Amino acid sequence: MRTLIKNGTVVTASDQYRGDVLLEDEKIAVIGTTLELHADRIIDASGKYVLPGGIDVHTHLDMPFGGTTSVDDFESGTRAAAFGGTTSIVDFAIQYRGQTLHHALETWAKKAEGKAVIDYGFHMIITQLDDQVEGEMDALVRQGVTSFKLFMAYPGVFMLDDASIFKALLRTGKNGGTICMHAENGGVIDVLVQRALAAGQTAPRYHALTRPSRAEAEATHRAIALAEIADVPIYIVHLSSAEALQMVTEARDRGLPACAETCPQYLFLSYDNYEEPGFAGAKYVMSPPLRAKANQDQLWRGLAFDDLQVISTDHCPFCMKEQKELGTNDFSKIPNGAPGIETRMSLVYDGGVAAGRISLNRFVELTSTSPAKMFGLFPRKGTIAPGSDADIVVFDPTRTITLAAKTLHMNVDYNPYEGREVTGATHTVLSRGRLVIENGKFVGRAGAGSFLKRSPRS
Ligand code: URP
Ligand code: ZN
Ligand code: ZN
Repeated sequence: MRTLIKNGTVVTASDQYRGDVLLEDEKIAVIGTTLELHADRIIDASGKYVLPGGIDVHTHLDMPFGGTTSVDDFESGTRAAAFGGTTSIVDFAIQYRGQTLHHALETWAKKAEGKAVIDYGFHMIITQLDDQVEGEMDALVRQGVTSFKLFMAYPGVFMLDDASIFKALLRTGKNGGTICMHAENGGVIDVLVQRALAAGQTAPRYHALTRPSRAEAEATHRAIALAEIADVPIYIVHLSSAEALQMVTEARDRGLPACAETCPQYLFLSYDNYEEPGFAGAKYVMSPPLRAKANQDQLWRGLAFDDLQVISTDHCPFCMKEQKELGTNDFSKIPNGAPGIETRMSLVYDGGVAAGRISLNRFVELTSTSPAKMFGLFPRKGTIAPGSDADIVVFDPTRTITLAAKTLHMNVDYNPYEGREVTGATHTVLSRGRLVIENGKFVGRAGAGSFLKRSPRS
């Protein structure tokens, strides 16, 4: 099967040029200024960008959490991802206490099998570490699950102590894995939460008021310090605040391999959303929480100057009805997380590139190339080059869409950006040469996505 994408502007993390791209079966075969080659299908990309497919390295599909389960499974979640221009995800499998990592991986592999419409990999969340689990970490790296999320928050559920964190970091120094850290001081937050509830402070905004930026900054600093002692790189997930960013920036200025991602919610939403009337603030209950608006400029600066390397989504959707409602009288019972898998590329293009905050190349780097490099997928994914997978997004920089739960494809009854207009939207999406989205319509197939065996750090 040969597909020729003609007349578009090809954009990678480093280049931008008028070019034609020939896809042969699952791969990019030829790139040229004007290709007059036979093809079974021609896609006219005049006036549009031809981008490497987006890579979202932080999703939670079909995840039991907070007494309920995230509402997008691997079918609805990856379909929505494709609509938004994402062609690969890395989701989080969870080792619940008492379970092996292999059991967790099998459980998540079953969730994805026959459902994913785009390619998917897994990180492994470790909630209990002993000698056997350390051995399993090596085995997982060999199987292509090369990153491990650890929590410094959620005591009694996910949180690991510093000794276990340190051991896991040391292990990745040997096996080439990467530790991804949820950096919030869970012990301190728990005390603040109990005090708030005892004082009758039960509304959604107390979720944010009991998780101060300093608790994120302290944990970020501690995580980086532990990685420095272990002499290994570290990746901070869903970094939300200027104070935490400062810890990463200082470490990088000292030459440490400390990396971090942020997410669109921290760039476009703020603490003010928790003040929406009634229980509406529950829509934004996530951890870390949304911060004061002043943080946003600092995060954009971090993205522009490479103190932040990735924009992922932390897509973890719960409906308001019956799910977020679990916390009507107690903010600590509101399941943590929000939808975002479909809206990342348009939001970041509109608020980043069109607004003049980042270049078009940096947009591609943050949403595709850098996540591919960090998580062992490059150059198979994350660029447009001969031999790379034919994961392509034809992106229309002039199309304006209004974000709304009704017209988006995530399986959730609200959208955090409801009514927001964004310019820049996906037109056509190919995953390994197969059309998934054509002129804004879904033409893909559940089960067409494959497991991504990722490479360890070299
Ligand atoms: O609130 C969030 N972020 N929910 C998903 C789980 C996590 O910590 O990433
Ligand atoms: Zn987290
Ligand atoms: Zn997450």
